[in-house]
Amino acid sequence: MPVKRVSTGISELDDLLDRGYPKGHGILISGPPGAGKTILATHFLHQSCKDGKKCMLMLTHVNVESFLEQAENIGFDFKRCLDNGTLLITKSFEVRTNKIHNASRLGSGIGFVEKDCVENVQEIPDDVEIVVIDNLDMLSLYHSVEEFADKFFTINDILSSKRCTTLFLIGQEESDIKHRVAEHISFGSIMLYTNRNGRKGKGLRQLYIPKMRCTDLSLEPTSFRITPSGIKIEKIFQRDDILREALGSAV
Ligand SMILES: Nc1ncnc2c1ncn2[C@@H]1O[C@H](COP(=O)(O)OP(=O)(O)OP(=O)(O)O)[C@@H](O)[C@H]1O
Ligand SMILES: [Mg+2]
Repeated sequence: MPVKRVSTGISELDDLLDRGYPKGHGILISGPPGAGKTILATHFLHQSCKDGKKCMLMLTHVNVESFLEQAENIGFDFKRCLDNGTLLITKSFEVRTNKIHNASRLGSGIGFVEKDCVENVQEIPDDVEIVVIDNLDMLSLYHSVEEFADKFFTINDILSSKRCTTLFLIGQEESDIKHRVAEHISFGSIMLYTNRNGRKGKGLRQLYIPKMRCTDLSLEPTSFRITPSGIKIEKIFQRDDILREALGSAV
């Protein structure tokens, strides 16, 4: 039976993925700060809300207002979705802060910070179809590789059994062992990064999809821009860059 798909909210990315993210699975979105992870997830949430799917965003390191502010700044207004309950946002940040505060008062350390992420996932209502966890960095920061693998496996397992299509955002680089563990557990992986042009030093945003089960991948890096109306994937840039490079080196 062919895997069902859920639109990413970006038509060119849907094309790269055989019509969208594989439905009911967890996809890892990785990249350094500012790479565009949250914006990529914003497109997905906005499209899913528009399609009438119930969505949950779990924020761990930014507050709700700052997420909504950036979303609005690139043309995505979630007010109606929040008002009618299509989009639920949990603020793990506040829970975490309180727990750190309580923990330090009790002198028991911050070891139970991570429980929130698993607990939050367990408590996701059954009618939620779309989940974004922004992001896994705290889970990674406070744990050994083995513990991180256990926790992430559990979270992914709970979400898969709830048939949620999930984006896991993570700041870890490709070379990091925890990134490799998370990538191994996830159904798919999309990497965002900025390539610096050697001579001019100008950055070029690219995305690379090394893994997506049940999907015919091109394995070609794809260039994109972040504009005042969000992510624009413009393959033409790639050809232009290659031509420019070739002309440059010929002179
Ligand atoms: N309105 C806009 N116009 C153009 N570029 C924008 C706009 N808003 C944001 N950006 C770009 O997007 C980047 C932030 O993207 P995003 O928040 O998705 O990154 P991230 O990968 O989630 O980073 P972090 O790991 O810090 O959360 C900014 O650094 C900026 O370059
Ligand atoms: Mg972000």
